[in-house]
Amino acid sequence: MPRTPSTSQKKWIVSPHDAAKAETLRRALRITPAPPEDTVRRALECAAALMEERGVRAELAVGARVPAVPHDTDQLQQVVLNLLVNAEQAIESQAARRAAGEALGHIGIRTGRTAEGGVVLEVCDDGPGIPAEVASRIFDPFFTTKPPGQGTGLGLAIAQGIVTDHGGRIEVTSRPGRGSLFRVVVPR
Ligand SMILES: Nc1ncnc2c1ncn2[C@@H]1O[C@H](COP(=O)(O)OP(=O)(O)OP(=O)(O)O)[C@@H](O)[C@H]1O
Ligand SMILES: [Mg+2]
Repeated sequence: MPRTPSTSQKKWIVSPHDAAKAETLRRALRITPAPPEDTVRRALECAAALMEERGVRAELAVGARVPAVPHDTDQLQQVVLNLLVNAEQAIESQAARRAAGEALGHIGIRTGRTAEGGVVLEVCDDGPGIPAEVASRIFDPFFTTKPPGQGTGLGLAIAQGIVTDHGGRIEVTSRPGRGSLFRVVVPR
């Protein structure tokens, strides 16, 4: 069941979120032109041990190298890492799949260009997908469907804050039962 804060909790949670957001805004982004693939690779390295332990394959598609785009490499790395961890946790939540002895799942990562010269970073998984009633809330701070103690519900809110600070956006498409695709668009 999705967990959302009760009305009485809300007055407590608004302040840490606002503090976190203010901190994000205050901290000047260290924007430098860098190849987005390098940033994605570093996020993958951070998640590699987790993926291996859980038997999830995460693969970066090898395509035409995308030119450097100005971004804060640490911040965008965190965005990609949040998406990877979500994808891994979504796949892992499919207990029936594990019980059936199926291969645990697959995460695909791709970098590409937008028509305007920006970049797009895609993370797709073949997990359970996102039900329609949940999809409209996944970027809300503290919204989580994970059991208590497993998710704070801040990952996508933070990711969206970072991407917005870059002048970009995050898009999601999902087919319940088939998987999800998160697209991060960063302008030139
Ligand atoms: N790849 C995905 N597949 C299915 N559901 C997802 C996926 N990514 C996110 N979600 C849904 O969006 C919700 C919010 O994600 P978010 O990253 O903000 O928080 P969380 O993962 O629950 O907790 P935290 O990231 O703070 O540990 C998740 O609880 C889950 O329901
Ligand atoms: Mg998360």
